[in-house]
Amino acid sequence: MSKLAIHGGTRTVEKGNIQKWPPIDDSDKDLVLQSLYGENHAFGPNCKAFQDEFAAWNGNRFAVFTNSGTAALHMGLFAAGVGAGDHVLVTSYSWSSSATCILHHNAIPIFVDLDFDTINMDVDKIEAAITPRTKAMVVVHLHGLAVNMDKIMAVARKHNLKVIEDACQAHGALFMGKKVGTTGDCAAFSFNQNKCLCTGEGGMFVTDNEAMWQDAKKLWSFGETSTPHEDRDYHAYALGWMYRGHDMTAAFGRAQLAKMDRYFDIQRENGAVLNERLKDIPGLILPTEPEGHTHTWYNYTCRLDMAALGWSGNPVAMRNAVMKALQAEGAPVGVWQSFILPAMTVFRAKNAYGGGCPWSCRGAGDGVEYNPENYPVAQRHCDTHFGMTVPLRAPNRTDVAEKVADAFVKVFGSMDEVRKLAETMSS
Ligand SMILES: Cc1ncc(COP(=O)(O)O)c(C=O)c1O
Repeated sequence: MSKLAIHGGTRTVEKGNIQKWPPIDDSDKDLVLQSLYGENHAFGPNCKAFQDEFAAWNGNRFAVFTNSGTAALHMGLFAAGVGAGDHVLVTSYSWSSSATCILHHNAIPIFVDLDFDTINMDVDKIEAAITPRTKAMVVVHLHGLAVNMDKIMAVARKHNLKVIEDACQAHGALFMGKKVGTTGDCAAFSFNQNKCLCTGEGGMFVTDNEAMWQDAKKLWSFGETSTPHEDRDYHAYALGWMYRGHDMTAAFGRAQLAKMDRYFDIQRENGAVLNERLKDIPGLILPTEPEGHTHTWYNYTCRLDMAALGWSGNPVAMRNAVMKALQAEGAPVGVWQSFILPAMTVFRAKNAYGGGCPWSCRGAGDGVEYNPENYPVAQRHCDTHFGMTVPLRAPNRTDVAEKVADAFVKVFGSMDEVRKLAETMSS
C-alpha cells in the first residue's frame, strides 16, 4: 500500500478533480438575467411559475415558494393546526430546525430515537413516545432516504396525528415508487446551497389539502389572506411572518428544476460505484437502501464499526482520524452534525421564548425532559459517522466516484497508521 497523504504520500484525488455544485449553464444565466431585467424583483412571475412547476414535478396540488426550508416547516406546523402546548414527535438526529420549527409555533418537541440502519426516526419507537397532547409528527427523510411512510401513516391514522414531512434533504427520494412530500398532510423542501435543488437559499411548502394551503399562506405573508398576486387588503388576519421567496431565486430554481432528473441519474450512478467499491471494507458501514426505497445519495453517510477496526477508545477520535486521512487523500468527507438534537442547548435549557415557554405553559411540558442518554442509537450514529455530498453530484461522474473510492481503499488498507493517529488525537 502506498504512503498515506497525511504522512507525505501522493494524494489520491487531485485538486480540481471534484467540480463544484451546482453546475451552471446558459439556462440558469438566461432565466436569472431575464428576472434581473424584469419589472418585479419581489414575488414576481418566476415565483408563481416555480411553484406551479415544482408542484407538477413532485406531484402535489399546491406549492408555496418560501425563503427557506425552515419557513416551509413552520408553515406546515401552523397548517396542521399545531398550537401552544401541543406535543409534536420528531427524530432525535437532524438539522436543528426540524425541531425548532415546533418551538416556533409554541409547541413542544418530543424526540424519538434513531433507527441505526436508515438514520431515520425509528418507526417502531413512535407509539411509545405519544402523549395525550401529541398532535403531529415531523417526519424527516434524512440524507436522501425516505422514511417508511406506510408505518408512519398507520400510526398517524390510529392516533389521529397530522404528518409534516421534512423533505429538505430528500427531493426526488421514493418510497414504494411515491415521491417524498406526497403522502403526509404537507411537506417542506429546502433549496439551500448544498441541497439537491439549489437556489442559494429558499424552500417550498407543498400540500394536497386546500385548507392547509390557505392557512400556510397566511403565516407566509404577514397573516394576510390574499397573496401578492391578488388584490391585497393589507390586513393581518392572523399572526404572520414574512417567508416569501423572491423572483431571481425562483428563476434560478426553475432552471435547476428542469435539470433535476438528470442530476439524479448521475447521483444514482455515482452512489452505485461507491456501494460496489466499498462494500467489502472491514469496519466501514455503508448507507443502506432498504427494499422499496430509492435513495438519492444526497449525503453519502458512512459509519465506523469500532470493534471491527480494533478500536476500544473514544469513537470520535477514531472517526476523526479516519476523516483526516481521507481528507488528506482529497476525499471531502465531513461530520454533518456533532450534536444530537436532545443535546442542543435550546432544548436542554428550555430557553425558547423565555420564561419557560412553551414548556411551562399550563403544564404542557410537565414530565418532558431532554436527556441525551435516552437516545443511544442517535448518539452512536453521531459519534461514528462521516459523509460527503459534492463528489456524488453532477457534473462529477463515475471517474470521480472511482477516485474517491480509491482514497477509501487506501486509507482503510493502512489501518495501523490510522489507529496510531487516533491514539495521538485522543491523548
Ligand atoms: C433535514 C433538514 N431540515 C430542515 C432544514 C432547513 O432548511 P433551510 O436551511 O432551507 O431553512 C435543513 C437544512 O439544512 C435540513 O437539512
